[in-house]
Amino acid sequence: MDEFVTVVNHPLVQHKLTIMREKQTSTAEFRQLLREISLLLAYEVTRGLELTTKRIETPICEMDAPTLEGKKLALISILRAGNGLLDGILELIPAARVGFVGMYRDPETLQPVQYYCKVPPLLDERMVIVVDPMLATGNSSAAAVRLLKEQGAKNILFLCLLAAPEGIAHMRAEHPDVPIVTASIDEKLNDHGYIVPGLGDAGDRMFGTK
Ligand code: URA
Repeated sequence: MDEFVTVVNHPLVQHKLTIMREKQTSTAEFRQLLREISLLLAYEVTRGLELTTKRIETPICEMDAPTLEGKKLALISILRAGNGLLDGILELIPAARVGFVGMYRDPETLQPVQYYCKVPPLLDERMVIVVDPMLATGNSSAAAVRLLKEQGAKNILFLCLLAAPEGIAHMRAEHPDVPIVTASIDEKLNDHGYIVPGLGDAGDRMFGTK
């Protein structure tokens, strides 16, 4: 597409995503696949992290070895489905700071309603990765990013599993400074705000609710 959206076309990501989309895939399998995909996506979103060097001693000699620069990054999960992506990423970046934004979508208006916000300090000095598997209308994603900017965040990236063109357009209009990384751009939204072809309700599929 362009620099604003990166689609991770890695064959493993695409293969796992196909299994997740299938309606007969069990909750346990869905959760496991989401965990595995999030590791691969985390690899992609952290590609741009700055490195510095530090002096270390190997058993053989001293060297200037690369190490991550700056404050620990912040992962912000949009509840509740964001937690599925969060778990896998934390395996790869265990020292990351973690925040939660609680948003639910009013089923009538499809507008986001915030009910919780707890984020790490010094957001202005961190790379902030917002995670939510489904970028649908973009209403809750854009609202969450707005909230994080109000808390000082400047360097924000949005990570999702599936994105609808409508959600991408919304984010581009409101947050052109927040790049999106996704495993797929799907066709459209249906009348209920679900991504088509999508995978259904990510939270329900992850937690076995209905
Ligand atoms: N949220 C979901 O879980 N699924 C969709 O298709 C859209 C929003």
